[in-house]
Amino acid sequence: TTKAFIFDLDGVIVDTAKYHYLAWKKIADQLGIEFTHEHNELLKGVSRVRSLDIILELGKVNASQEDKEKWLIQKNEDYLSYLVDMDESEILPGVFTILQFLKENNQPIALGSASKNARPILEKTGLLPYFDAVVDGNDVTNAKPDPEVFLMAAKLLNTKPEDSIVFEDSVAGVQAANIGNMTSIGIGEASTLHEAKYIFTDFTAIDTAFIEELIKG
Ligand code: G6P
Ligand code: MG
Repeated sequence: TTKAFIFDLDGVIVDTAKYHYLAWKKIADQLGIEFTHEHNELLKGVSRVRSLDIILELGKVNASQEDKEKWLIQKNEDYLSYLVDMDESEILPGVFTILQFLKENNQPIALGSASKNARPILEKTGLLPYFDAVVDGNDVTNAKPDPEVFLMAAKLLNTKPEDSIVFEDSVAGVQAANIGNMTSIGIGEASTLHEAKYIFTDFTAIDTAFIEELIKG
């Protein structure tokens, strides 16, 4: 059988979630808004524009459209500054092994990310050739937990949603996979990602036998 394996990017393939946090934290500090790692979970998987709105809501700050646009630009410039020297060393542990195993087993692979910076990151890390389809923040209108990004990815891989498997580190992304009728695999902490069908702390905890079962299942 053939399944579709759909990977989120930030916090799943590369450790960029920490950079998103640092860049948002600067904006929050500037505005005097408390922004903890726990608050940051609300932003994972969420679009840039929506993320800013969540931060402003946390601080009960009303802002003009002009200010918001300024902060969005500042956030992205700061975020991009962390990516300048990015290379394959920032691929998260175990990811490469799984991608390679899927390729050896002729399983189609897609990216399903909310980020508008996804393609350059895949290029910098050398992972772009592994992906048969890339769906990112430039392609979708509805942000996770809306399943649009994953449904589009499955469609590009000619696979039904129920035969699609999604790897996600965010609550919104796990929900999107579930709403889309796909198999959700949470990468991170069980306390945060309990809505996922399966949960692993990272890819080194996933063995190829488990992937084989998914392919058969
Ligand atoms: C991912 C990340 C979010 C980020 C979003 C948009 O989903 O988990 O933290 O805000 O992408 O990323 P971008 O690179 O377009 O700002
Ligand atoms: Mg993510």
